[in-house]
Amino acid sequence: MAIITLDPIDPAAVVDGLDGVNHPMRHITETIINDGSWGADRRADVASFFDELAKDWSGSRSAEQRASALDDVFVRAADWVPRATGFALELGVGSGMFTPTLVKRWGTVVAADISPAMLAEVPPGLAPVMRADASRLPLVDRSTHLILLANMFLFPAEMDRVLADDGAIVWLNSRGVNTPIHLTTEAVLDALPGEWSAVESQFGAATWAVCRRSSRVPPGKIGVVASTTA
Ligand SMILES: C[S@@+](CC[C@H](N)C(=O)[O-])C[C@H]1O[C@@H](n2cnc3c(N)ncnc32)[C@H](O)[C@@H]1O
Repeated sequence: MAIITLDPIDPAAVVDGLDGVNHPMRHITETIINDGSWGADRRADVASFFDELAKDWSGSRSAEQRASALDDVFVRAADWVPRATGFALELGVGSGMFTPTLVKRWGTVVAADISPAMLAEVPPGLAPVMRADASRLPLVDRSTHLILLANMFLFPAEMDRVLADDGAIVWLNSRGVNTPIHLTTEAVLDALPGEWSAVESQFGAATWAVCRRSSRVPPGKIGVVASTTA
C-alpha cells in the first residue's frame, strides 16, 4: 500500500459539539469493515435512522463546504481520477448535497441510498436515483469507473466487485476524523480486497482520499509529492 499525502488547504477543526468519535454510526462503520456485520436488522435500523434526519439534512449542513471539498478532489487529485466514462456511482447520496458537483465534474451520476426519505429530498432532475443497499448492489461486475462515498459506509467486497479495473473510489469525510462515518485512508485501503493505493488530503474540515488498485495507479504518481507511507 502507498499513500501520498498532499498538504492541507485551510485546515479547520469542527467545533459544533457533535462527537463523531463516539457516535453510534462510528461503531457500525468500524464493525462493517472488521467483521462484515450487516444484516436485515441493521439495514432497517440504519434506513430508519436516516429517514428521521432526511427533512432537515440539507438545511442543517453547508452545501458550499461540501461542493468545495469535492471540487478540491477533482482539482488536486486530477491525475488519480479516471477519465469520465459511463456513470459515476454516488452511494449514500442522502439529500444529494454532493451530487451537483459530481454531475459537473463527471457527467452522468447514479445516486443511490437505502433511505427512501433521503432520496425524496434529492432535487428532481439532478440524477437518476435508486433505492439500493450498498452491500449488495443491483449492478453487474466492474460497471462503474468512479464511486463516491461521502460520509458513507464502506462495503469493501461490493465496492471491489462493481468498480472497473482502472476505476477509483473517492472516500470523503466532511468533518474529518470527527465525522461519525469516518475511516482513515489506511483503514479503507486495508479493508479493500487486494493491493490498493491512495492520494489523500484535507480541505477545510473535510478529509478525502482517492483510492485505486495499486496496479492501476497512474505511472510516476507514487512518491512524487509531500510524504509517502509504504
Ligand atoms: C451520513 S449520511 C451522508 C449523506 C450524504 N452523502 C452527505 O454527506 O450529505 C449517510 C447516508 O448513507 C445512507 N446509507 C447508509 N447505509 C447505506 C447502505 N447500506 N446502502 C445505501 N445507502 C446507505 C443513509 O441512508 C444516508 O443517507
